[in-house]
Amino acid sequence: MSFPPESIPPDVPETQIIDEIDIDSNRRLLNRYRYIEQRSMRVLAGWLAKAARFELKCEIGRAIWEDSLHVNGLYLRLREIQSPAFQNPADPALLRLMEEILHAPNELALAVAFWRVLKPALCAAMEKHESTTFPNSDLPSVYAIAHILLDERAQIARIEKLLVQWEAERRFDSAVAPWADYIHALLRDAGGITGEATRPAAPAIAPAVRRNFVPPNEAARDERFTNAETVAGIWGNTPNEADYGEHTSWEFERYSTEMLAAETIGLVMFQMTAVPITWEFFYDLARHLYDEVRHGLMGYEWMTLHQHDPYKAPQALAVFRWRSQFTPVEQYGMLTMGNEANVFPYRLRRLEAHRQLGHRLNEQFVRYDMADETQHVRFGKRWLPEMLKAVGEPRSLKQFTKEILEVWHEQYATGKYPLQAE
Ligand SMILES: [Fe+2]
Ligand SMILES: [Fe+2]
Repeated sequence: MSFPPESIPPDVPETQIIDEIDIDSNRRLLNRYRYIEQRSMRVLAGWLAKAARFELKCEIGRAIWEDSLHVNGLYLRLREIQSPAFQNPADPALLRLMEEILHAPNELALAVAFWRVLKPALCAAMEKHESTTFPNSDLPSVYAIAHILLDERAQIARIEKLLVQWEAERRFDSAVAPWADYIHALLRDAGGITGEATRPAAPAIAPAVRRNFVPPNEAARDERFTNAETVAGIWGNTPNEADYGEHTSWEFERYSTEMLAAETIGLVMFQMTAVPITWEFFYDLARHLYDEVRHGLMGYEWMTLHQHDPYKAPQALAVFRWRSQFTPVEQYGMLTMGNEANVFPYRLRRLEAHRQLGHRLNEQFVRYDMADETQHVRFGKRWLPEMLKAVGEPRSLKQFTKEILEVWHEQYATGKYPLQAE
């Protein structure tokens, strides 16, 4: 807009000059976008471990984090114009859409529903919003929307490239199209993203391809991972740290499997949406989740650079299988207070070894990892008490932590992984 703003001609009646979105419509719309982004996080977190195609799994992880930033941007604006800031939209059709999208028949149907149906519609609605709200009076909304659009357009473009490739490789099965049609129909039932479009008389009926979502207890990997079940090299036959070259290869191969941590956090986030806990918990865990995807990719980057095939790395999928049998608080407690809190003496030794031998890339990777891991231990310390409260855990934090660490030492740190009978 120009500055100073163009003055309103005095002879135009006020009723004729307000084409912009009024403040009540504005908060209703922002709340719908926020709800869609927040429920998307839940759905994608639930699906992270179930998605096998590696590139899609990485994109899902990134989308969970980016969407958390979008929810937060909208929350920061919404809390200025409505109280409480988080409210379920008063539109059962929109609630139905964001529940149904979870029950996709497979990961590619899920991806098409999100990045060819829902997210493009969300972008179109926000683009219109950006240009039709009061440009000055509502500038904070414009700011939030402009930044979200930047991310969402890039997210759609990245994933579209993958979808085109997978379609050409004939990876889409016959469930993909009817599922995408169903999600389209549910969106129409909700009057579109804005809720303002004319709604069909009869609501959409779920197609036969719909699969009731079951939270994962297995971490899926695509066919390129030839050692998905192998645990080798984690316990027992770790190369000696004194043998720098061999140990460093092992060290970065281990990084390449950190998707397992991201998958556990995805499951924890999904499970925790069922209990009352503050938004900031999901905001932090979304970042924690995506950090672990990045650590995994750091391992891939290192291995590829050193002519090692990351798809041949042992994936130790038993770790996810084992962790997923515990409650979400136990899973997050063992990850942050077991795996992450205990890794620092080892990382510091590696950092020193890389530095002394002048391996700058190795040193940089470990330093970035340690910066992230420091945050992750903080997340554990910050959120475990809140999680215990939210789930109504009777044990004190001290007792709870002591007991889960006993299990962690006995079962995980020794690589014994006993699975409780069903
Ligand atoms: Fe990590
Ligand atoms: Fe971590």
